[in-house]
Amino acid sequence: MGKIIAFHSYKGGTGKTLLSINLAATYARKGKNVCLLDLDFRAPSLQARFKANGNEYWLNDYLNGACEIEKVLIDLSHLLSGNGNGKFLVGLANPSTEAIREMTAKDRKWEMRALGRLLSLRNSLLNDMHLDYLIFDTSPGLQYSSINAIVAADVAIVVTSLDTSDIKGTQRMTNELYDLFEKKTGIVVNKVLVDMLSSTAGKENFSEHFHNTHNLPVLDTIPCFCDVLRAGGTCVFAEEKPEHAFAKTVERIAQKIEKL
Ligand SMILES: Nc1ncnc2c1ncn2[C@@H]1O[C@H](COP(=O)(O)OP(=O)(O)O)[C@@H](O)[C@H]1O
Ligand SMILES: [Mg+2]
Repeated sequence: MGKIIAFHSYKGGTGKTLLSINLAATYARKGKNVCLLDLDFRAPSLQARFKANGNEYWLNDYLNGACEIEKVLIDLSHLLSGNGNGKFLVGLANPSTEAIREMTAKDRKWEMRALGRLLSLRNSLLNDMHLDYLIFDTSPGLQYSSINAIVAADVAIVVTSLDTSDIKGTQRMTNELYDLFEKKTGIVVNKVLVDMLSSTAGKENFSEHFHNTHNLPVLDTIPCFCDVLRAGGTCVFAEEKPEHAFAKTVERIAQKIEKL
């Protein structure tokens, strides 16, 4: 049985997209069949990294009921080096201004139908196509499209920064929302200053503090890496620099997800 993992956060820019891509690549490199879906219709991001030549359909079309999911998926398995890799499929959100405006204006009735379409991905992708992991990269905040993604997932990973408003918002979100859905949930604290994590004791204190505030397991605390910032989202560390500390962190997160 495959697993659906949704990355979510209260605020934007916490690292959801970066972590989604790298987690997907980590699994694929381990021989797992993975599909990564851009469900951030307000700020589509994956098309910037995985340029699709001539793909006619977007996830927007799938959710609108205009096509089946197979039409949307792009097979990027060939981008992975080495042997023994699994499939690496990607579904993109339409980045045009018109599409973004259209998606932001959807009403609740549409969102309910879209939830049905998301839920049926378990059958089409996990059961029929035998994929091992489906990874949702979502919009930050509490709009219906993100809630739908969490409802459809088995595991929710909340990524937070150390920004005070992010910490407070994340706390409200985990207390009210995630409790309600009773999802397996883990927290990732990202972009932490290196000196705050310089000792093992410091790192443990940090995790304990977040664990106590949210009453949820902390999957990892990730430093703010200059290399990652410098790459500007163009490098898939898990594939191109698997020995880098960031790639190693994502590997640890992948292992912890299995234990949630
Ligand atoms: N641990 C990190 N160290 C340095 N830069 C990071 C780290 N995590 C994320 N970033 C950078 O922060 C920016 C926002 O990340 P992104 O994944 O797009 O966030 P989100 O999808 O949550 O909006 C990107 O430029 C990304 O490369
Ligand atoms: Mg993003």
